[in-house]
Amino acid sequence: MSLSKYNNPQVALHWLTAATISFLLVTGTFILSHIDNTDPTKINNLKIHMIVGGLALVLTLARIFWRARSPQPEVLDNSGSLMAKAGTAAHYVLNMMALVIAISGVGLALLSGLPEVVFFGQGVLPESFFDYIPRYVHGISTKIMLGLVALHILAAFYHAVVIKDSPFRRMWFGRQNA
Ligand code: HEM
Repeated sequence: MSLSKYNNPQVALHWLTAATISFLLVTGTFILSHIDNTDPTKINNLKIHMIVGGLALVLTLARIFWRARSPQPEVLDNSGSLMAKAGTAAHYVLNMMALVIAISGVGLALLSGLPEVVFFGQGVLPESFFDYIPRYVHGISTKIMLGLVALHILAAFYHAVVIKDSPFRRMWFGRQNA
């Protein structure tokens, strides 16, 4: 018995994660990393980034847990071709990278004493986050994630427009017909 679509909690978790991670990737790359640590606006920007980043971590863990616990529809392409295998692998790598990014962010925050400065107004920001190894992990993994997200979106539209196997209907709310 194969299911027609993903279940509703999974759909909600998918789009919430997509929104939070897209927000963090865009604002982190184009705004946050360009603000000097001596700039008074930096703390508020970091506060938003850390709260939304923490939420992204919780959502990603909930998504992985829920996926493992609930019945899933069949993969769109089960031909066993190289493309099909790459598609399945890409989904695992996307989840893995989301975890690497969020965990390195938390590691960076803890090592540099950010929670005290950002949430309790105690102490000052370090001169540079690049004095801490997790900053490099965070920076490089976010660049890889940007590429993966772009590929993920392209693949979804390729399925929708060229193959016409309704990927967006599978990842939207509604009754899950068997
Ligand atoms: C999936 C979740 C997250 C995403 C997608 C994300 C994304 C980003 C991006 C794109 C940058 C800029 C990187 C660069 O251009 O080199 C960045 C920087 C940063 N992120 Fe995150 N982040 C996430 C979670 C977190 C968390 C949970 C924390 C801390 C609790 C955090 C703390 C930081 C810090 C301290 C910086 C450095 C800012 C700077 O160099 O000025 N991030 N993040």
